[in-house]
Amino acid sequence: MRISFCCPSMESQPWLEGLRAALPQAEVAPWASGAAPADYALVWAPPQQFFDEQPQLKAAFNIGAGVDALLPLRVPSKTVLARLEDAGMAVQMAEYVCHALIRHFREFDAYAEQMSLGQWQARAPHMRADWPVGIMGLGVLGKRVAKAVAAFEFPVLGWSRSQHAIEGVRCYAGQAQLDDFLSACKVLVCLLPLTPDTRDILNQRNLSRLQPGGYVINVARGAHVVDDDLLALLDSGHLAGATLDVFHTEPLPDAHPFWRHPKITLTPHISARTLRQETIAQIAAKILAFEHGQALSGIVDLQRGY
Ligand code: NAP
Ligand code: GLV
Repeated sequence: MRISFCCPSMESQPWLEGLRAALPQAEVAPWASGAAPADYALVWAPPQQFFDEQPQLKAAFNIGAGVDALLPLRVPSKTVLARLEDAGMAVQMAEYVCHALIRHFREFDAYAEQMSLGQWQARAPHMRADWPVGIMGLGVLGKRVAKAVAAFEFPVLGWSRSQHAIEGVRCYAGQAQLDDFLSACKVLVCLLPLTPDTRDILNQRNLSRLQPGGYVINVARGAHVVDDDLLALLDSGHLAGATLDVFHTEPLPDAHPFWRHPKITLTPHISARTLRQETIAQIAAKILAFEHGQALSGIVDLQRGY
């Protein structure tokens, strides 16, 4: 069996070594134009040429959860496309979102400022019942985040395409229930895939439906946000702040107003990193399952966009 590695932005050597150790029977090689035909591939933002030259691929495994970089590509019709399912990302996402939420809710930035000025002063506590946290996207990552937020006893709401039933989470589904969901939230966490339906979803219309003093945590994709709408709602005071991990252009351009906005906390797309060992273990298991004719989970539906 031949496995090709086509992740142009990543250092290939540790991946090749890990794959060879996990699947000693496989011939593993980095992809380059003209490479021998492979049975399977690990991909992250591959060029169109990769799929054009590998029409025989049985399956391509995206080494991230989001497949938006693959949506514009023509993938050979017989190639199964699978994405990463958790592989160590869900717990990272849970800790990132809980950190951002609690940092804001407990006013840790204000305390840091006060203490740096030598001011010993307690602030009035907030009531968590007044801080419902809504999670857009109740997939592998959204569900794990919902569970983590619920453990801190915040009211938790969730919104997805299809109806879900999750203990401790008030679930909403579809466009018809979006406004009811948004108006019941004070904190909004975006964990949607980026698709034609979800692009620009964090816009003026939707964000202004959040409760006054709302807070936005975007850990999905930058193109979910209409940047100017978010800035306007922060400046008007309707939103109290935002924590943003993902951006339209990455790295975030120097001149972007997000860099210097006092109500915005930024991180460089690190909320849930792809972990090499866990990723290789998951994909190696899926390749073996596929070779034995078993159905794979985490298959991407290109029509649906995730
Ligand atoms: P997933 O398991 O596919 O879950 C996607 C969720 O979004 C599902 O609940 C789905 O609804 C819902 N959804 C999709 N389209 C929708 C729509 N039009 N309206 C309402 N709900 C919709 O994905 P995941 O593994 O949780 O990952 C989610 C995203 O996180 C990825 O696509 C990626 O962009 C992002 N991510 C970011 C980082 C980072 O470091 N910043 C790391 C990993 C992932 P159904 O349940 O009804 O299908
Ligand atoms: C990272 O952003 C991913 O989609 O896994």
